[in-house]
Amino acid sequence: MTQLRDDLKEQKLLTMTMDGEIVDFTEGETIYEVSARNQKDVPTLCYDDRLEAFGACRLCVVEVEGIRNPVASCTTKANDGMVVKTSTPAVEKHRKTLLELVASENRNIDVDELSGYASQEFANLIDRYEARTGRFAGKKSGTTNTKDKNPFILRDYDNCISCYRCVRVCAEREGDYAINIMNRGFETQIITEFNNDLRDSDCTFCGQCVQTCPTGALGDKKALRDADTEGEVKKTRTICPYCGVGCSVDMLSKGDKIVGVQPAMDGPANEGALCIKGQFAFDFIQNEDRLGKPLIRREDGKLHECEWDEALDFAAAGFKKARDEYGRRSIYGIASGRAPHEAAYTMQKFIRASFGTNYIDNCSRA
Ligand code: SF4
Ligand code: SF4
Ligand code: FES
Repeated sequence: MTQLRDDLKEQKLLTMTMDGEIVDFTEGETIYEVSARNQKDVPTLCYDDRLEAFGACRLCVVEVEGIRNPVASCTTKANDGMVVKTSTPAVEKHRKTLLELVASENRNIDVDELSGYASQEFANLIDRYEARTGRFAGKKSGTTNTKDKNPFILRDYDNCISCYRCVRVCAEREGDYAINIMNRGFETQIITEFNNDLRDSDCTFCGQCVQTCPTGALGDKKALRDADTEGEVKKTRTICPYCGVGCSVDMLSKGDKIVGVQPAMDGPANEGALCIKGQFAFDFIQNEDRLGKPLIRREDGKLHECEWDEALDFAAAGFKKARDEYGRRSIYGIASGRAPHEAAYTMQKFIRASFGTNYIDNCSRA
């Protein structure tokens, strides 16, 4: 092992010993990051790898040689020559006690998986550490905000564990600062400015707080409409159909029914972020008012269903009439921001080649 360490040193790699193995790391990495890269299963609750480490829950503690008490691995930088143990009987006991403390004051550990992307993290840890004991039953913190009538986000702070992931994601990822923390200890409460409804705050309803909440204290109200619908939740990776950014999403379905959307944390364009439309505006997909056929406004002034051939001929005649009567510059093409490259290319070709005008644009700018 000493030889390996000397070899790595010669290559100017920083190394530490983790659970008896030499591992390398880059300057600035935390112990937790090194442990995750080396497939160690260190539990976390207040950690979200997209956010600045916060060090609130102390679940990620590890033993470091030469330091008396276990340290939070998510906020402690790795050092050259460090000797770390990620799992010892003392560390595991510490983690279990912490979970029992938190679980004792949470009204509801088992929340529906439709609540949000991270909503099962807490329940899974409670099961892993067999921490459903109610051992520290007593005073409870958090008050459910039942008065908040926003249509998208359930705010059930009875289940809040004060990890502040919601507050931090809102500030660090959305740049919104719509929510914050009031009071300390058992009186801690997540609030909006002046403790108003979310609708009256700066909230953009991006849903990121919902998706990072590890307990379901914040829940996706729209997805939860189908909590009692029969069937397993299936996730299908796809791209949001709205703008041209191309955010990756997982569509949630039960049987044939689309019940919700979750952002893909590994989506290259969005890394777990969405806007209000991508996150919550999916009802149109299965709306019974969706057009199944083209419509033509006929002599009676009303829209009538028709076949595609007739609709295309009708549109072509309209374009021709406009060009003949008012000139080529009377025609202006606007590509949809939802169109793929190929459709946008075809649109500009159609306008330029067929009508001889460069009057084109796209809806993101128009
Ligand atoms: S609402 Fe959820 S994310 Fe926010 S502090 Fe409470 S448990 Fe953490
Ligand atoms: S929905 Fe987005 S903007 Fe609103 S509080 Fe949550 S993270 Fe902040
Ligand atoms: S995950 Fe490290 S302190 Fe919470």
